[in-house]
Amino acid sequence: MEKNKIYCMDCFEFLERLENNSVDLAVIDPPYNLKKAEWDTFESHQDFLNFTYKWIDALIPKLKNTASLYIFNTPYNSAYILNYLVNKKMKFRNWIVWDKRDGLAYSKNRYVNSQETILFFTKGDTYTFNRDDIRIPYESIERIEHARKKGILKNGKRWFPNAKGKLCGEIWHFSSERHKNKINGKTPKMPHVTPKPLDMIERIIKASSNKDDLVLDCFMGIGTTALACKKHSRNYIGCDNNSDFVSIANNRLSIFEEMI
Ligand SMILES: C[S@@+](CC[C@H](N)C(=O)[O-])C[C@H]1O[C@@H](n2cnc3c(N)ncnc32)[C@H](O)[C@@H]1O
Repeated sequence: MEKNKIYCMDCFEFLERLENNSVDLAVIDPPYNLKKAEWDTFESHQDFLNFTYKWIDALIPKLKNTASLYIFNTPYNSAYILNYLVNKKMKFRNWIVWDKRDGLAYSKNRYVNSQETILFFTKGDTYTFNRDDIRIPYESIERIEHARKKGILKNGKRWFPNAKGKLCGEIWHFSSERHKNKINGKTPKMPHVTPKPLDMIERIIKASSNKDDLVLDCFMGIGTTALACKKHSRNYIGCDNNSDFVSIANNRLSIFEEMI
């Protein structure tokens, strides 16, 4: 199969064709069974789990032994997915909480769902993690200014802040696309109901892959993973079974190419 191409194909057919042990990083944003669209609607939770376990089984052999895997979902579904992956001998690394900054939806008798989960697994114990490429600015500016000049004494050693910022934690704050696009509090119709923020996918790509690596996304939507790969000189490969989304993804990629 060709690299740097988004196939308009069902994920199972696509994964069957993809070469085993070829992928360095998989960024997977699958259906959640939240009934946001036809593709996100399953008859029962068990049907949804059967579908999810089936694509996980098809995906694992495609990963190199040094590969990383990120899977988005609701916290509830992620608990099942985590358990399944552990049973498949994948190595758990982080349960990342994505704070969507979009918590204004009405919720009558429980807390508002304002987060999604991103599970971070690796296939083995040797894998890429570019922690310095995803550092984030320090918050306590005054203390850091002081530390820059004189250092802070910690366990008998003088600690100086890193010029690139602090290490990235497991709680990620990125406004959802829905939230970013609101006009007077209302979201206009978007080309896709659940696109992921580009800057969030870029963080994953930068942390868990290197230049020229192959990144897989078998639920590509409107191509956010492909765009992040292009921006950071990674190769991508993926599919979506909706031809409209694949066209929009290819358009986004062309616009980016024209800009550089
Ligand atoms: C959550 S969305 C991905 C959105 C994407 N991350 C983005 O930023 O645009 C899931 C996508 O999976 C696709 N999809 C659902 N079932 C599929 C299947 N069996 N094979 C391939 N794609 C599928 C849908 O068309 C949808 O675009």
